[in-house]
Amino acid sequence: MSELSVKEYKVWDLPTRLFHWINFFSILLLMFVGLVMLYKDALGIQNVEAKIALKQLHVIIGYIFTINLAWRAIWAFFGNKHARWTEILPGKNYLVELKSYLRSVKSGSPKQFIGHNPAGKFSVMVIYLVLVIMAVTGLIRAGTDIYFPPFGTIAAEYVAKDGVDPASILPYDKTNVNPEKYQTLSAFKRPIGIIHLYLSYFLMLIALLHIAAVVKAELSGSHGLVSAMLSGRKRIAGTPEDGDL
Ligand code: HEM
Repeated sequence: MSELSVKEYKVWDLPTRLFHWINFFSILLLMFVGLVMLYKDALGIQNVEAKIALKQLHVIIGYIFTINLAWRAIWAFFGNKHARWTEILPGKNYLVELKSYLRSVKSGSPKQFIGHNPAGKFSVMVIYLVLVIMAVTGLIRAGTDIYFPPFGTIAAEYVAKDGVDPASILPYDKTNVNPEKYQTLSAFKRPIGIIHLYLSYFLMLIALLHIAAVVKAELSGSHGLVSAMLSGRKRIAGTPEDGDL
């Protein structure tokens, strides 16, 4: 029986790897602090200052997460072949490539790719979309909940009573706010909070699936996906479909 030769290929460049690990750890922290916020009553966190501090901590980690995500979108114009938008967005032959890849998986000898295989590309697309919505809804909640940038000043100016300095409006403090405008703001931010919460559950689910899939690939010794995200190099048996760099 002839053995396929295993070769190592350059895949993820350094900025893409840095993005990935900052993204991974910031999401992990956001989920952790988010869950503490969600179960604050059960955890005995009742004092308002502590609740605000938790939100502030979540938002500061959220800024790191958002800046990293924005940086990744910019890098997709400049990075190596596997860092580009073409690796993230479906091209015009995407469905044909996906079907052909799925057929090869069914047949027991999956086509090999240096970058994402067509099925992986689909999950990457969904994950990025969810992350962008999490960042946007999070930033809106940060502005409307605790008057943090970039929308905090607009929210505070909107709810401040006539003649009150918007900078003096504090989270959870209704003394200087116009009650009607505060209600309107609450009605606006509620659905945004619901999207943020339910998408965070969805993200927890896909993050678990993603981790399970890469650990399985790592243990099977086929690609070493975790190692590839650390070293930037991927081992592939046979000829990859997406060529060498
Ligand atoms: C993938 C990233 C994120 C995850 C998994 C996540 C998760 C969560 C969770 C579980 C909650 C609790 C929901 C609740 O109390 O109803 C929450 C609330 C919140 N998040 Fe995030 N979050 C993320 C990103 C962000 C970002 C980027 C920001 C802003 C920069 C942000 C700002 C907020 C704010 C202000 C709240 C409080 C909303 C409220 O009290 O209802 N989040 N987040």
